[in-house]
Amino acid sequence: MNVRNIVDALIEAPVITSFTRIGYAVRARLDAWQPLGEYDLSGRVIVLTGATSGLGKAAAMQLAECGATLVLVGRDADRNEKAVAAIIESSGNPNVTQVAADMGDYEQVKALAYRVLAEHDRLDVLIHNAGALTPDRRTAPDGTEATVASQVIGPFLLTRLLLERLATTPQSRVLTMSSGGMYSSALTVSGLQMSEAEYRGTEQYARAKRAQVVLNEMWAERFGSLGIHFQAMHPGWASTPGVDASLPTFSKIMGPLLRSPEQGADTLVWLAADELPLRSNGGFWLDRRPRSTHKIPRTKSAETLDRRQRLWDWVSKTCGIDPALPDANPRAE
Ligand SMILES: NC(=O)c1ccc[n+]([C@@H]2O[C@H](COP(=O)([O-])OP(=O)(O)OC[C@H]3O[C@@H](n4cnc5c(N)ncnc54)[C@H](OP(=O)(O)O)[C@@H]3O)[C@@H](O)[C@H]2O)c1
Repeated sequence: MNVRNIVDALIEAPVITSFTRIGYAVRARLDAWQPLGEYDLSGRVIVLTGATSGLGKAAAMQLAECGATLVLVGRDADRNEKAVAAIIESSGNPNVTQVAADMGDYEQVKALAYRVLAEHDRLDVLIHNAGALTPDRRTAPDGTEATVASQVIGPFLLTRLLLERLATTPQSRVLTMSSGGMYSSALTVSGLQMSEAEYRGTEQYARAKRAQVVLNEMWAERFGSLGIHFQAMHPGWASTPGVDASLPTFSKIMGPLLRSPEQGADTLVWLAADELPLRSNGGFWLDRRPRSTHKIPRTKSAETLDRRQRLWDWVSKTCGIDPALPDANPRAE
């Protein structure tokens, strides 16, 4: 183990150093990170969900500054337009548009996919960032619990509908913003949607975030051969409107240690821009390094092949996709 790996491992063990701005600052120096502003993404088309606030907005701003063509997704057209205007004004990049879609409403997800397919003949990066921790139980239009619908099923459907376009775009990527909160939660399919009686927002969120990471690995196993790179990540703990609203006490106590939205979004932008993530598939990242998806044995042993397959089948069925997913068209070279 070289010194840099030893220092990184020392920071990684306690979350208080790893997840906060301490981890970000030490690792940025340790690995002499390339500044994000040096990446040129001109001509690359990127679809980014959850771009009106927090990490997504910070990522969109940086990606626009790198010259990417952006399609921003959020639930409300006015909020989206405000984000588009702010990003165009600040970056000077005019190639930023928006589509209003709730990721938990599968008809809206389909409409979003068809818009992207109609308006863009390539898709370099699809970023599933939209998400929320909801204290009270809500349901999506199809009756599915809303966290699961918007952060597991909707993104799965969007990936499927855009798969062929991704497969015909060289070096394409699908990125998923998960959470370190998933470390405490084992994969469950029967318990993925918590009932009204047992519902706790933090636990429901952790279960959905675990499912996202498992599905990311499964997409990579099944469709990595098409040249599409699937990567998931977590941002540590960043100060965003979402965290302030859903975890106000945590936000207040941890305030000075929380990362800025730009710091939380750094690895997301890097995964979209750098060559290094193209050398592997199905990884889980923090601070530009791949990380383990488990910190406790209980969560690892729960991830049986059978349970993973049942997750894939259930998610496919819920959004009306054939779980066998006939192969997408082979990549055109
Ligand atoms: N901040 C952290 O420390 C932290 C830690 C771990 C993981 N994360 C993850 O990072 C992502 C961004 O979080 P954030 O902290 O930046 O939160 P945020 O400030 O609340 O931003 C969330 C974004 O997601 C969009 N969104 C929420 N639900 C949506 C839905 N159903 N359909 C479409 N868009 C939706 C929101 O847009 P509209 O409201 O305009 O629709 C907003 O742009 C989430 O996936 C979150 O779980 C954050």
